[in-house]
Amino acid sequence: MKAIEIDEAGGPEVLRLRERQAPRPGPGEILVDVRVAGVNFFDTSVRKHRLVEVPGAEGAGVVLETGEGVHGFAPGDRVAWMDSTRHGGYAEQVVLPATCFVAVPGTVDDETAAALVLQGLTAHHLATVSHAVRPGDVALVHAAAGGVGMLLTQLVKARGGTVIGLVSRPEKVGIATEAGADHVLVSTGAAFVGPVRDLTGGEGVHVVYDGAGATTFDASLEALRTHGTLVFYGPLIGEVPSIRVDDLPRSVRLTYPTTDDHLRGEGALATHMAELFALVGTGELVVRIGGRYPLADAARAHADIESRATTGKLLLFP
Ligand SMILES: NC(=O)c1ccc[n+]([C@@H]2O[C@H](COP(=O)([O-])OP(=O)(O)OC[C@H]3O[C@@H](n4cnc5c(N)ncnc54)[C@H](OP(=O)(O)O)[C@@H]3O)[C@@H](O)[C@H]2O)c1
Repeated sequence: MKAIEIDEAGGPEVLRLRERQAPRPGPGEILVDVRVAGVNFFDTSVRKHRLVEVPGAEGAGVVLETGEGVHGFAPGDRVAWMDSTRHGGYAEQVVLPATCFVAVPGTVDDETAAALVLQGLTAHHLATVSHAVRPGDVALVHAAAGGVGMLLTQLVKARGGTVIGLVSRPEKVGIATEAGADHVLVSTGAAFVGPVRDLTGGEGVHVVYDGAGATTFDASLEALRTHGTLVFYGPLIGEVPSIRVDDLPRSVRLTYPTTDDHLRGEGALATHMAELFALVGTGELVVRIGGRYPLADAARAHADIESRATTGKLLLFP
């Protein structure tokens, strides 16, 4: 079977299409024919440090074979999966523990299912747990035209919040607005603080969702109102900020959520994915595919997402 291998730690050029031995499922594992593999910003970090041979933490496909002791899945079933430990999704076939998989309902297509897993679960965690949005809350969403950002914007709106979206280029404004952002600011540095205060009558926002790293951290804190919450969820872009706790202003709360924490406990993956699939079914959540690439072009997908030019979800097709 064909798969993308990370030749060595480095830039997008180290991603090469190679012939590999087809995997076989061991006890408790499932072998899947990959129809769609999701690309996440996270994958660029996996590549830079060559954390695995074959990247890819999510996707959608069809069960080919189940290992001994697997219940609830059978060959021919449509499934989606997420696994941020073993990876291997940039391939024609993947084997992973059965606990990584969920069944995909007939109403949800493969592209939507693959696009919803990591970014959807992350957005769900941010809007329902990290800061459970209440009607009337004002949220500042960084990278509002990106994969997590577009889904998060829709979830905040569905819970009755107001969204101020941040994007780096004017051409992304329409995309963020389409996702439901009430206001969209174009900014790459710290210049958003003044406009955010203007939009909130000088008060600041109830919550900032910042996945952009250290460069925007101080400005994100500055944009909060008293008792606001800074949800810092993306250390992979740029440096991790260092903080002194007694420098935190205005009684704010600071949290660093990871999606794996959202999936603790038996059945959590299936439960949260069912909620996301249901929102897609009612039309409250719309997945926007920003780029489709043949598997062989994984390097181009990585170069594109790192260039800040992309919007929505990027997908690879084996
Ligand atoms: N904590 C978790 O469990 C978790 C899970 C999933 C994702 N994440 C994090 O969520 C963030 C978004 O991930 P994603 O996969 O959904 O990607 P994405 O938002 O589709 O793409 C990345 C976006 O980040 C923005 N960005 C800001 N600074 C950037 C920079 N220096 N270089 C490149 N892009 C930059 C860009 O939007 P603008 O150009 O418009 O600013 C870009 O479009 C990442 O930080 C990722 O690590 C965290």
